[in-house]
Amino acid sequence: MITIVVAMGLKNEIGADNQLLWHLPKDLKHFKEITSGHPIIMGRKTYESIGKPLPNRTNIVVSRKKDWFEEGILIVGSIKEAIKFAKKLDENIFIIGGGNIYEQTIDLADKLEVTQVEAELDADVFFPKINPKIWEKTSETCHEKDEKNNYNFCFQTLQKKSEI
Ligand SMILES: NC(=O)c1ccc[n+]([C@@H]2O[C@H](COP(=O)([O-])OP(=O)(O)OC[C@H]3O[C@@H](n4cnc5c(N)ncnc54)[C@H](OP(=O)(O)O)[C@@H]3O)[C@@H](O)[C@H]2O)c1
Repeated sequence: MITIVVAMGLKNEIGADNQLLWHLPKDLKHFKEITSGHPIIMGRKTYESIGKPLPNRTNIVVSRKKDWFEEGILIVGSIKEAIKFAKKLDENIFIIGGGNIYEQTIDLADKLEVTQVEAELDADVFFPKINPKIWEKTSETCHEKDEKNNYNFCFQTLQKKSEI
């Protein structure tokens, strides 16, 4: 099972200046719960934006750079290689961004774990359009903004519709 995890605004915006667009500790907790114990695949820019390996997960980072090394992560030269390696470790693997990696993997994914943030924000990176003919929302849980979480948001699970 390949699951994409993403938090996006109403225009599918996901980031600006290599940072996230919101402060949502509840979403970070949700992300941790979903991904802990499993391999996570990310692009080099997302890794640099996080700044360190995420604990209790094998961090697989995709980069074309030949001379790049970082302690605590596995660097691979292609998405195919990343998925092949992750599948050897676990049957549940997670793709965690960013925009460039999502574009190249949405067709490979079985499930989308989307945090739909109720805001329209300026951004320079976007999630690809989700085709409703392909993806079906199977669950949704919504949360109101509060003193720590600065927007309303909903956790949504989308499953790929089975082919007829
Ligand atoms: N809201 C969310 O859920 C979420 C999640 C993650 C990230 N983000 C945001 O997204 C932004 C980063 O996304 P991004 O699109 O700029 O970058 P990205 O997808 O994180 O990383 C792109 C990099 O990955 C490597 N790469 C991509 N495709 C590859 C391939 N086929 N083979 C080998 N390497 C490949 C390249 O690294 P090299 O240049 O090293 O070759 C490329 O520059 C940030 O703003 C971040 O905060 C948001």
